Amino acid sequence: IALSAQASNDSSSSSSSSSSSNSSNSLVFDPDGYEKLTTTVTDTAGDEHSVTYHFWKAITYVAKPVDEAYQSLVVSVPVEIDGKAVDASNAPILFANSVGGYMPSSVADATGIGAGGMTGGGGAPSGAPSGAPSGSAAPSASASNANGNTNATGGATASNQLLALAAGYVVVEPGARGRTLKNSDGEYYGTAPAAIVDLKAAVRYVKANKGRIPGNVDRIVSAGTSAGGALSSLLGASGDSPIYDKYLKEIGAADASDAIFATGAWCPITDLEHADGAYEWNWGTNVTQSTGKVVDQTVSKALQAQFAEYQAKLRLRGLKGSGFGTLTARNYDDYLLKQYLEPSATTYLAALSDSERETYLAKNTFITWSGGKASFTWADFLTHVGARKKTTPAFDAFDLSAGENNEFGAGTTEARHFTAYGAKNDSTGLSTKRVASDIPEKLHLMNPMYHLVEKVNGKRSKHWWIRLGTSDTDTSHVISANLAAAVSGLGDDVNHLYYWDQGHGANTDPGDFITWIAKVTG
Ligand code: DHB
Repeated sequence: IALSAQASNDSSSSSSSSSSSNSSNSLVFDPDGYEKLTTTVTDTAGDEHSVTYHFWKAITYVAKPVDEAYQSLVVSVPVEIDGKAVDASNAPILFANSVGGYMPSSVADATGIGAGGMTGGGGAPSGAPSGAPSGSAAPSASASNANGNTNATGGATASNQLLALAAGYVVVEPGARGRTLKNSDGEYYGTAPAAIVDLKAAVRYVKANKGRIPGNVDRIVSAGTSAGGALSSLLGASGDSPIYDKYLKEIGAADASDAIFATGAWCPITDLEHADGAYEWNWGTNVTQSTGKVVDQTVSKALQAQFAEYQAKLRLRGLKGSGFGTLTARNYDDYLLKQYLEPSATTYLAALSDSERETYLAKNTFITWSGGKASFTWADFLTHVGARKKTTPAFDAFDLSAGENNEFGAGTTEARHFTAYGAKNDSTGLSTKRVASDIPEKLHLMNPMYHLVEKVNGKRSKHWWIRLGTSDTDTSHVISANLAAAVSGLGDDVNHLYYWDQGHGANTDPGDFITWIAKVTG
Protein backbone atom coordinates (compact mmCIF):
# COMPACT_ATOMS: atom_id res chain seq x y z
CA ILE A 1 0.00 0.00 0.00
CA ALA A 2 1.43 3.32 -0.98
CA LEU A 3 0.60 5.95 1.51
CA SER A 4 2.98 8.70 0.69
CA ALA A 5 1.45 11.67 -0.97
CA GLN A 6 2.78 14.75 -2.51
CA ALA A 7 0.74 17.84 -2.27
CA SER A 8 1.70 20.87 -4.20
CA ASN A 9 -0.49 23.83 -3.68
CA ASP A 10 -0.70 26.12 -6.59
CA SER A 11 -1.45 29.44 -5.02
CA SER A 12 -1.21 31.23 -8.34
CA SER A 13 -4.73 30.07 -9.03
CA SER A 14 -5.86 31.86 -5.93
CA SER A 15 -9.10 33.75 -6.16
CA SER A 16 -9.00 34.78 -2.60
CA SER A 17 -10.78 37.51 -0.83
CA SER A 18 -9.73 38.34 2.71
CA SER A 19 -9.59 35.24 4.82
CA SER A 20 -7.51 35.99 7.85
CA SER A 21 -8.62 35.50 11.42
CA ASN A 22 -11.93 37.09 12.04
CA SER A 23 -11.13 39.54 14.78
CA SER A 24 -14.71 40.64 15.24
CA ASN A 25 -15.54 37.03 16.05
CA SER A 26 -19.04 37.18 14.74
CA LEU A 27 -18.90 33.40 14.35
CA VAL A 28 -20.48 33.78 10.91
CA PHE A 29 -18.68 31.75 8.30
CA ASP A 30 -17.86 33.70 5.15
CA PRO A 31 -18.69 31.47 2.17
CA ASP A 32 -16.53 33.65 -0.09
CA GLY A 33 -13.48 33.87 2.13
CA TYR A 34 -11.49 31.12 0.48
CA GLU A 35 -8.61 30.73 -1.86
CA LYS A 36 -8.41 28.15 -4.56
CA LEU A 37 -5.61 25.61 -4.28
CA THR A 38 -4.61 22.51 -6.14
CA THR A 39 -2.98 19.50 -4.59
CA THR A 40 -1.99 16.02 -5.69
CA VAL A 41 -3.17 13.15 -3.55
CA THR A 42 -1.71 9.69 -3.94
CA ASP A 43 -4.38 7.20 -2.98
CA THR A 44 -3.80 3.92 -1.17
CA ALA A 45 -3.44 2.08 -4.48
CA GLY A 46 -0.65 4.46 -5.47
CA ASP A 47 -2.67 6.40 -8.02
CA GLU A 48 -2.35 10.16 -8.16
CA HIS A 49 -5.33 12.47 -8.14
CA SER A 50 -5.37 16.15 -8.84
CA VAL A 51 -7.69 17.91 -6.43
CA THR A 52 -8.68 21.54 -6.66
CA TYR A 53 -10.18 22.80 -3.46
CA HIS A 54 -11.34 25.92 -1.69
CA PHE A 55 -9.29 26.64 1.39
CA TRP A 56 -10.34 28.88 4.25
CA LYS A 57 -7.35 29.95 6.33
CA ALA A 58 -7.55 30.08 10.13
CA ILE A 59 -10.96 31.20 11.35
CA THR A 60 -11.42 31.86 15.06
CA TYR A 61 -14.27 29.64 16.20
CA VAL A 62 -15.16 31.26 19.52
CA ALA A 63 -16.37 34.79 20.33
CA LYS A 64 -14.18 35.19 23.42
CA PRO A 65 -10.96 33.40 22.54
CA VAL A 66 -8.31 32.81 25.17
CA ASP A 67 -5.73 32.25 22.45
CA GLU A 68 -6.73 32.57 18.80
CA ALA A 69 -3.59 30.81 17.68
CA TYR A 70 -5.18 27.59 18.92
CA GLN A 71 -8.90 28.32 18.91
CA SER A 72 -9.14 28.50 15.15
CA LEU A 73 -9.91 26.08 12.37
CA VAL A 74 -9.28 25.71 8.65
CA VAL A 75 -11.71 24.37 6.06
CA SER A 76 -11.01 22.56 2.79
CA VAL A 77 -13.71 21.86 0.23
CA PRO A 78 -13.00 19.97 -2.99
CA VAL A 79 -14.43 21.49 -6.17
CA GLU A 80 -12.68 19.51 -8.88
CA ILE A 81 -11.20 16.02 -8.75
CA ASP A 82 -9.21 14.73 -11.72
CA GLY A 83 -10.71 17.40 -13.95
CA LYS A 84 -14.29 16.67 -12.93
CA ALA A 85 -16.35 19.19 -11.03
CA VAL A 86 -17.59 17.95 -7.67
CA ASP A 87 -20.25 19.40 -5.41
CA ALA A 88 -19.37 18.92 -1.74
CA SER A 89 -22.18 21.11 -0.44
CA ASN A 90 -23.86 18.12 1.17
CA ALA A 91 -20.81 15.87 1.64
CA PRO A 92 -19.74 14.34 4.95
CA ILE A 93 -17.42 16.54 7.00
CA LEU A 94 -14.19 15.02 8.28
CA PHE A 95 -13.35 16.82 11.50
CA ALA A 96 -9.69 15.96 11.91
CA ASN A 97 -7.79 17.14 14.94
CA SER A 98 -4.01 17.05 15.02
CA VAL A 99 -3.52 16.91 18.76
CA GLY A 100 -0.60 14.82 19.97
CA GLY A 101 0.60 14.35 23.52
CA TYR A 102 -2.19 16.59 24.87
CA MET A 103 -0.02 19.40 23.53
CA PRO A 104 -1.26 22.61 21.93
CA SER A 105 -2.26 22.19 18.33
CA SER A 106 -2.47 25.08 15.91
CA VAL A 107 -3.62 25.66 12.35
CA ALA A 108 -3.04 29.41 12.58
CA ASP A 109 -0.32 29.40 9.94
CA ALA A 110 -1.73 26.65 7.75
CA THR A 111 -1.63 27.50 4.05
CA GLY A 112 -3.29 24.32 2.89
CA ILE A 113 -4.94 21.09 4.03
CA GLY A 114 -3.12 18.78 6.43
CA ALA A 115 -0.72 21.27 7.92
CA GLY A 116 -1.85 21.24 11.54
CA GLY A 117 0.17 19.85 14.36
CA MET A 118 1.65 20.23 17.76
CA THR A 119 3.29 23.49 18.53
CA GLY A 120 4.87 25.28 21.36
CA GLY A 121 6.58 22.41 23.02
CA GLY A 122 9.93 22.44 21.34
CA GLY A 123 9.50 18.96 20.00
CA ALA A 124 7.78 15.84 21.13
CA PRO A 125 6.49 15.74 24.68
CA SER A 126 7.69 13.03 26.96
CA GLY A 127 5.53 10.06 26.34
CA ALA A 128 4.55 11.38 22.96
CA PRO A 129 5.00 9.52 19.74
CA SER A 130 8.56 8.82 18.83
CA GLY A 131 7.57 9.05 15.23
CA ALA A 132 4.82 7.30 13.43
CA PRO A 133 5.73 4.10 11.64
CA SER A 134 6.24 4.55 7.95
CA GLY A 135 2.94 4.13 6.29
CA SER A 136 1.27 5.91 9.11
CA ALA A 137 -1.11 8.65 8.35
CA ALA A 138 -1.15 9.99 11.85
CA PRO A 139 -0.97 13.65 11.10
CA SER A 140 0.03 14.73 14.55
CA ALA A 141 2.46 12.05 15.34
CA SER A 142 5.74 12.81 13.73
CA ALA A 143 8.15 15.46 14.82
CA SER A 144 8.67 16.31 11.19
CA ASN A 145 5.31 17.97 10.91
CA ALA A 146 5.33 19.50 14.34
CA ASN A 147 6.63 22.78 13.08
CA GLY A 148 4.33 23.63 10.29
CA ASN A 149 5.34 21.21 7.59
CA THR A 150 2.76 22.56 5.23
CA ASN A 151 2.15 20.70 2.05
CA ALA A 152 2.87 23.76 -0.06
CA THR A 153 6.23 22.44 -1.11
CA GLY A 154 5.25 18.81 -1.24
CA GLY A 155 6.12 15.93 0.99
CA ALA A 156 3.04 15.79 3.17
CA THR A 157 2.09 12.39 4.47
CA ALA A 158 -1.06 10.89 3.00
CA SER A 159 -3.46 11.53 5.77
CA ASN A 160 -7.09 10.87 6.44
CA GLN A 161 -7.52 14.53 5.50
CA LEU A 162 -6.01 14.28 2.02
CA LEU A 163 -7.79 11.04 1.23
CA ALA A 164 -11.08 12.50 2.44
CA LEU A 165 -10.58 15.53 0.22
CA ALA A 166 -9.86 13.31 -2.77
CA ALA A 167 -13.02 11.36 -1.97
CA GLY A 168 -15.05 14.54 -2.23
CA TYR A 169 -15.56 15.23 1.47
CA VAL A 170 -15.29 18.52 3.29
CA VAL A 171 -12.36 18.61 5.73
CA VAL A 172 -12.38 20.78 8.85
CA GLU A 173 -9.16 20.91 10.85
CA PRO A 174 -9.48 22.50 14.27
CA GLY A 175 -6.67 23.68 16.49
CA ALA A 176 -7.02 23.35 20.25
CA ARG A 177 -5.28 24.53 23.39
CA GLY A 178 -2.88 22.11 25.01
CA ARG A 179 -1.25 21.40 28.31
CA THR A 180 1.95 23.43 28.06
CA LEU A 181 0.37 26.81 27.36
CA LYS A 182 1.13 29.35 30.09
CA ASN A 183 0.24 33.04 30.29
CA SER A 184 2.38 35.89 31.57
CA ASP A 185 1.07 35.32 35.09
CA GLY A 186 2.40 31.80 34.96
CA GLU A 187 -1.05 30.25 34.69
CA TYR A 188 -1.66 27.15 32.62
CA TYR A 189 -4.60 27.78 30.32
CA GLY A 190 -4.49 24.73 28.09
CA THR A 191 -4.74 21.93 30.63
CA ALA A 192 -7.88 19.79 31.12
CA PRO A 193 -10.52 20.33 29.96
CA ALA A 194 -9.34 23.02 27.50
CA ALA A 195 -8.69 20.76 24.50
CA ILE A 196 -12.08 19.04 24.54
CA VAL A 197 -13.87 22.31 25.23
CA ASP A 198 -12.14 23.82 22.20
CA LEU A 199 -12.99 20.90 19.93
CA LYS A 200 -16.61 21.09 21.02
CA ALA A 201 -16.63 24.83 20.36
CA ALA A 202 -15.26 24.13 16.88
CA VAL A 203 -18.05 21.61 16.22
CA ARG A 204 -20.58 24.16 17.45
CA TYR A 205 -19.12 26.73 15.06
CA VAL A 206 -19.54 24.35 12.14
CA LYS A 207 -23.09 23.45 13.12
CA ALA A 208 -24.07 27.06 13.77
CA ASN A 209 -23.01 27.80 10.20
CA LYS A 210 -25.26 25.23 8.60
CA GLY A 211 -26.17 26.47 5.13
CA ARG A 212 -23.14 28.77 4.97
CA ILE A 213 -20.34 26.28 5.46
CA PRO A 214 -20.15 23.59 2.75
CA GLY A 215 -20.89 20.02 3.79
CA ASN A 216 -23.57 18.22 5.76
CA VAL A 217 -23.21 19.41 9.34
CA ASP A 218 -25.32 16.44 10.46
CA ARG A 219 -22.63 14.09 9.13
CA ILE A 220 -19.55 15.21 11.02
CA VAL A 221 -17.00 12.41 11.40
CA SER A 222 -14.25 13.09 13.92
CA ALA A 223 -10.72 11.73 13.62
CA GLY A 224 -7.63 11.86 15.77
CA THR A 225 -4.62 9.86 16.87
CA SER A 226 -3.32 9.09 20.35
CA ALA A 227 -4.21 12.05 22.59
CA GLY A 228 -6.09 13.23 19.50
CA GLY A 229 -7.75 9.82 19.36
CA ALA A 230 -8.70 10.17 23.01
CA LEU A 231 -10.22 13.58 22.31
CA SER A 232 -11.98 12.25 19.22
CA SER A 233 -13.60 9.44 21.23
CA LEU A 234 -14.48 11.91 23.96
CA LEU A 235 -16.07 14.19 21.38
CA GLY A 236 -18.05 11.21 20.10
CA ALA A 237 -19.10 10.02 23.54
CA SER A 238 -19.96 13.37 25.11
CA GLY A 239 -22.05 15.06 22.41
CA ASP A 240 -24.22 17.82 23.91
CA SER A 241 -23.38 16.81 27.47
CA PRO A 242 -24.30 19.72 29.75
CA ILE A 243 -21.19 19.27 31.90
CA TYR A 244 -19.19 21.36 29.40
CA ASP A 245 -21.68 24.20 29.17
CA LYS A 246 -20.02 26.61 31.57
CA TYR A 247 -16.66 26.16 29.87
CA LEU A 248 -18.16 26.67 26.43
CA LYS A 249 -19.98 29.77 27.61
CA GLU A 250 -16.78 31.19 29.04
CA ILE A 251 -15.07 31.20 25.64
CA GLY A 252 -18.11 32.35 23.71
CA ALA A 253 -18.83 29.16 21.81
CA ALA A 254 -21.56 29.33 19.19
CA ASP A 255 -25.05 28.41 20.32
CA ALA A 256 -25.42 25.05 18.60
CA SER A 257 -25.13 21.32 19.17
CA ASP A 258 -21.70 19.74 19.62
CA ALA A 259 -22.88 16.19 18.92
CA ILE A 260 -21.10 14.44 16.06
CA PHE A 261 -22.29 11.66 13.78
CA ALA A 262 -19.34 9.25 13.81
CA THR A 263 -16.02 8.81 15.57
CA GLY A 264 -12.63 7.70 14.31
CA ALA A 265 -9.98 7.05 16.95
CA TRP A 266 -6.46 5.69 16.45
CA CYS A 267 -4.59 4.43 19.52
CA PRO A 268 -6.66 6.55 21.90
CA ILE A 269 -4.76 7.40 25.08
CA THR A 270 -7.83 7.67 27.22
CA ASP A 271 -9.51 6.52 30.45
CA LEU A 272 -6.46 8.08 32.05
CA GLU A 273 -7.42 7.52 35.68
CA HIS A 274 -7.64 3.76 35.06
CA ALA A 275 -4.83 3.47 32.57
CA ASP A 276 -2.07 2.81 35.11
CA GLY A 277 -3.77 -0.39 36.27
CA ALA A 278 -4.68 -1.48 32.75
CA TYR A 279 -1.08 -0.84 31.69
CA GLU A 280 0.37 -3.08 34.41
CA TRP A 281 -2.21 -5.78 33.74
CA ASN A 282 -1.05 -5.75 30.14
CA TRP A 283 2.68 -5.02 30.25
CA GLY A 284 3.51 -5.63 33.92
CA THR A 285 6.06 -8.35 33.23
CA ASN A 286 7.70 -6.75 30.19
CA VAL A 287 10.99 -4.92 30.70
CA THR A 288 11.01 -1.20 30.03
CA GLN A 289 12.69 0.47 27.08
CA SER A 290 14.53 2.87 29.37
CA THR A 291 16.11 0.42 31.85
CA GLY A 292 15.83 -2.97 30.18
CA LYS A 293 14.46 -4.21 33.51
CA VAL A 294 11.02 -4.96 34.86
CA VAL A 295 9.34 -2.23 36.89
CA ASP A 296 8.79 -2.36 40.65
CA GLN A 297 6.60 -5.44 40.89
CA THR A 298 4.97 -4.34 44.13
CA VAL A 299 3.69 -1.22 42.45
CA SER A 300 2.81 -3.16 39.33
CA LYS A 301 0.82 -5.73 41.30
CA ALA A 302 -1.01 -3.08 43.30
CA LEU A 303 -2.05 -1.38 40.10
CA GLN A 304 -3.10 -4.68 38.52
CA ALA A 305 -5.38 -5.29 41.49
CA GLN A 306 -6.94 -1.88 40.92
CA PHE A 307 -7.53 -2.80 37.30
CA ALA A 308 -9.25 -6.06 38.25
CA GLU A 309 -11.61 -4.16 40.49
CA TYR A 310 -12.33 -1.50 37.87
CA GLN A 311 -12.86 -4.00 35.08
CA ALA A 312 -15.30 -6.00 37.20
CA LYS A 313 -17.25 -2.84 37.95
CA LEU A 314 -17.52 -1.91 34.28
CA ARG A 315 -19.54 -5.05 33.55
CA LEU A 316 -18.71 -4.89 29.87
CA ARG A 317 -19.39 -7.80 27.59
CA GLY A 318 -17.24 -8.74 24.65
CA LEU A 319 -17.95 -7.09 21.32
CA LYS A 320 -21.21 -8.13 19.72
CA GLY A 321 -20.64 -11.42 17.92
CA SER A 322 -17.52 -12.28 19.91
CA GLY A 323 -19.33 -14.80 22.06
CA PHE A 324 -17.57 -13.40 25.11
CA GLY A 325 -19.55 -12.67 28.23
CA THR A 326 -18.44 -10.27 30.95
CA LEU A 327 -14.86 -9.13 30.53
CA THR A 328 -12.67 -9.43 33.61
CA ALA A 329 -8.99 -9.26 34.50
CA ARG A 330 -9.01 -13.07 34.32
CA ASN A 331 -10.39 -13.55 30.81
CA TYR A 332 -9.27 -10.34 29.10
CA ASP A 333 -6.07 -11.91 27.75
CA ASP A 334 -8.12 -14.59 26.06
CA TYR A 335 -10.53 -11.99 24.71
CA LEU A 336 -7.76 -9.86 23.25
CA LEU A 337 -6.16 -12.94 21.70
CA LYS A 338 -9.29 -14.35 20.10
CA GLN A 339 -11.08 -11.14 19.22
CA TYR A 340 -8.19 -8.98 18.08
CA LEU A 341 -4.64 -10.32 18.13
CA GLU A 342 -4.96 -13.65 16.34
CA PRO A 343 -7.26 -12.21 13.66
CA SER A 344 -4.78 -9.34 13.26
CA ALA A 345 -1.89 -11.73 12.70
CA THR A 346 -4.05 -13.82 10.40
CA THR A 347 -4.90 -10.82 8.24
CA TYR A 348 -1.25 -9.81 8.12
CA LEU A 349 0.02 -13.27 7.23
CA ALA A 350 -2.71 -13.99 4.70
CA ALA A 351 -1.72 -10.89 2.75
CA LEU A 352 1.91 -12.05 2.40
CA SER A 353 3.22 -14.16 -0.44
CA ASP A 354 3.94 -17.78 0.46
CA SER A 355 7.66 -17.18 0.72
CA GLU A 356 7.26 -13.97 2.76
CA ARG A 357 4.95 -15.82 5.12
CA GLU A 358 7.40 -18.68 5.49
CA THR A 359 10.16 -16.22 6.31
CA TYR A 360 8.01 -14.43 8.87
CA LEU A 361 6.88 -17.67 10.51
CA ALA A 362 10.46 -18.97 10.62
CA LYS A 363 11.43 -15.85 12.57
CA ASN A 364 8.33 -15.95 14.75
CA THR A 365 7.99 -19.55 15.77
CA PHE A 366 5.54 -18.68 18.54
CA ILE A 367 2.86 -18.43 15.86
CA THR A 368 1.08 -21.56 14.75
CA TRP A 369 -0.18 -21.16 11.18
CA SER A 370 -2.83 -23.69 10.41
CA GLY A 371 -5.78 -23.74 8.05
CA GLY A 372 -5.02 -20.14 7.09
CA LYS A 373 -5.21 -18.98 10.70
CA ALA A 374 -2.66 -17.73 13.20
CA SER A 375 -2.72 -18.79 16.82
CA PHE A 376 -0.42 -18.18 19.78
CA THR A 377 -0.42 -17.69 23.52
CA TRP A 378 -0.73 -14.42 25.42
CA ALA A 379 2.65 -14.96 27.11
CA ASP A 380 4.35 -15.44 23.76
CA PHE A 381 2.62 -12.39 22.37
CA LEU A 382 3.97 -10.28 25.25
CA THR A 383 7.47 -11.60 24.59
CA HIS A 384 7.05 -10.80 20.91
CA VAL A 385 6.13 -7.17 21.66
CA GLY A 386 9.18 -6.86 23.90
CA ALA A 387 10.13 -3.83 25.96
CA ARG A 388 7.37 -1.55 27.16
CA LYS A 389 7.59 2.19 26.58
CA LYS A 390 6.71 3.41 30.03
CA THR A 391 7.76 2.92 33.63
CA THR A 392 5.28 2.61 36.47
CA PRO A 393 2.86 4.17 37.07
CA ALA A 394 2.68 4.95 33.39
CA PHE A 395 0.31 7.92 33.59
CA ASP A 396 0.10 9.32 37.11
CA ALA A 397 3.82 9.25 37.84
CA PHE A 398 4.85 9.45 41.50
CA ASP A 399 7.27 12.23 40.56
CA LEU A 400 4.69 14.08 38.44
CA SER A 401 6.86 13.65 35.34
CA ALA A 402 4.25 12.20 32.99
CA GLY A 403 2.62 14.37 30.36
CA GLU A 404 -0.72 13.48 31.91
CA ASN A 405 0.35 15.05 35.23
CA ASN A 406 0.74 18.28 33.28
CA GLU A 407 -2.60 17.69 31.52
CA PHE A 408 -4.22 17.81 34.99
CA GLY A 409 -2.25 20.85 36.06
CA ALA A 410 -4.21 23.98 36.98
CA GLY A 411 -3.57 27.60 37.77
CA THR A 412 0.14 28.08 38.26
CA THR A 413 0.66 24.41 39.14
CA GLU A 414 2.24 22.70 36.16
CA ALA A 415 1.57 19.08 37.13
CA ARG A 416 -0.74 17.31 39.55
CA HIS A 417 -1.75 13.84 40.58
CA PHE A 418 -5.11 12.61 39.31
CA THR A 419 -5.37 9.20 40.96
CA ALA A 420 -5.60 8.40 44.66
CA TYR A 421 -2.75 5.93 44.32
CA GLY A 422 -0.48 8.41 42.54
CA ALA A 423 -1.21 11.08 45.13
CA LYS A 424 -0.67 8.72 48.05
CA ASN A 425 2.71 7.70 46.71
CA ASP A 426 3.79 11.17 45.66
CA SER A 427 7.55 11.50 45.67
CA THR A 428 7.80 15.25 45.14
CA GLY A 429 7.30 16.24 48.75
CA LEU A 430 3.70 17.38 48.52
CA SER A 431 2.10 17.89 51.92
CA THR A 432 -1.28 16.64 50.72
CA LYS A 433 -1.33 13.04 49.65
CA ARG A 434 -4.74 13.30 48.04
CA VAL A 435 -5.98 14.54 44.69
CA ALA A 436 -7.22 18.13 44.58
CA SER A 437 -10.95 18.70 45.00
CA ASP A 438 -11.50 19.69 41.36
CA ILE A 439 -9.92 16.51 39.96
CA PRO A 440 -13.01 14.24 40.00
CA GLU A 441 -14.91 16.70 37.78
CA LYS A 442 -11.93 17.11 35.46
CA LEU A 443 -11.74 13.34 35.07
CA HIS A 444 -15.39 13.20 34.02
CA LEU A 445 -14.78 15.98 31.53
CA MET A 446 -11.87 14.07 30.00
CA ASN A 447 -13.12 10.49 29.96
CA PRO A 448 -15.37 9.02 27.25
CA MET A 449 -16.13 6.06 29.54
CA TYR A 450 -17.90 8.43 31.92
CA HIS A 451 -20.37 9.28 29.16
CA LEU A 452 -20.79 5.66 28.08
CA VAL A 453 -20.83 3.71 31.32
CA GLU A 454 -21.48 5.95 34.30
CA LYS A 455 -23.91 8.05 32.25
CA VAL A 456 -25.32 6.76 29.01
CA ASN A 457 -25.30 9.73 26.69
CA GLY A 458 -28.03 9.35 24.08
CA LYS A 459 -26.44 12.09 21.98
CA ARG A 460 -23.18 10.17 21.52
CA SER A 461 -22.12 9.25 18.03
CA LYS A 462 -23.44 5.83 17.03
CA HIS A 463 -20.65 4.82 14.64
CA TRP A 464 -17.14 4.02 15.82
CA TRP A 465 -13.94 3.31 13.94
CA ILE A 466 -11.17 2.33 16.36
CA ARG A 467 -7.66 1.22 15.49
CA LEU A 468 -4.54 0.23 17.46
CA GLY A 469 -1.14 -1.29 16.63
CA THR A 470 -0.45 -4.60 18.37
CA SER A 471 3.03 -3.37 19.34
CA ASP A 472 1.81 -0.07 20.75
CA THR A 473 2.80 0.12 24.42
CA ASP A 474 1.88 3.76 24.95
CA THR A 475 -1.17 2.44 26.76
CA SER A 476 -2.85 -0.89 27.49
CA HIS A 477 -4.55 -2.86 24.73
CA VAL A 478 -7.52 -2.95 27.06
CA ILE A 479 -8.22 0.77 26.69
CA SER A 480 -9.38 0.61 23.06
CA ALA A 481 -11.09 -2.72 23.60
CA ASN A 482 -13.07 -1.38 26.57
CA LEU A 483 -14.14 1.66 24.59
CA ALA A 484 -15.29 -0.59 21.75
CA ALA A 485 -17.04 -2.98 24.14
CA ALA A 486 -18.82 -0.10 25.87
CA VAL A 487 -20.31 1.37 22.69
CA SER A 488 -21.05 -2.04 21.23
CA GLY A 489 -22.92 -2.90 24.40
CA LEU A 490 -25.02 0.21 23.87
CA GLY A 491 -25.93 -1.03 20.40
CA ASP A 492 -23.64 1.21 18.39
CA ASP A 493 -21.95 0.22 15.16
CA VAL A 494 -18.29 -0.62 15.91
CA ASN A 495 -15.44 -1.29 13.53
CA HIS A 496 -12.41 -2.06 15.68
CA LEU A 497 -9.27 -3.90 14.73
CA TYR A 498 -5.62 -4.06 15.67
CA TYR A 499 -2.79 -3.62 13.15
CA TRP A 500 -0.31 -6.45 13.42
CA ASP A 501 3.22 -5.49 14.47
CA GLN A 502 2.44 -1.80 14.21
CA GLY A 503 3.51 0.71 16.81
CA HIS A 504 2.11 3.92 18.18
CA GLY A 505 0.32 6.18 15.71
CA ALA A 506 -0.16 3.60 12.98
CA ASN A 507 -2.92 4.02 10.42
CA THR A 508 -2.41 1.36 7.80
CA ASP A 509 -5.91 1.33 6.35
CA PRO A 510 -6.88 4.96 5.82
CA GLY A 511 -8.57 4.08 2.52
CA ASP A 512 -10.89 1.74 4.40
CA PHE A 513 -11.74 4.53 6.83
CA ILE A 514 -12.73 6.77 3.92
CA THR A 515 -14.91 3.99 2.49
CA TRP A 516 -16.42 3.43 5.93
CA ILE A 517 -17.36 7.12 6.13
CA ALA A 518 -19.24 6.78 2.86
CA LYS A 519 -21.01 3.71 4.16
CA VAL A 520 -22.09 5.04 7.53
CA THR A 521 -23.03 8.51 6.34
CA GLY A 522 -24.76 7.34 3.18
C1 DHB B 1 0.44 10.47 23.42
C2 DHB B 1 1.28 9.43 23.74
C3 DHB B 1 1.38 9.01 25.04
O1 DHB B 1 2.17 7.99 25.39
C4 DHB B 1 0.64 9.64 26.03
O2 DHB B 1 0.76 9.22 27.30
C5 DHB B 1 -0.22 10.67 25.70
C6 DHB B 1 -0.33 11.09 24.39
C7 DHB B 1 0.34 10.90 22.00
O3 DHB B 1 1.08 10.38 21.16
O4 DHB B 1 -0.50 11.76 21.70
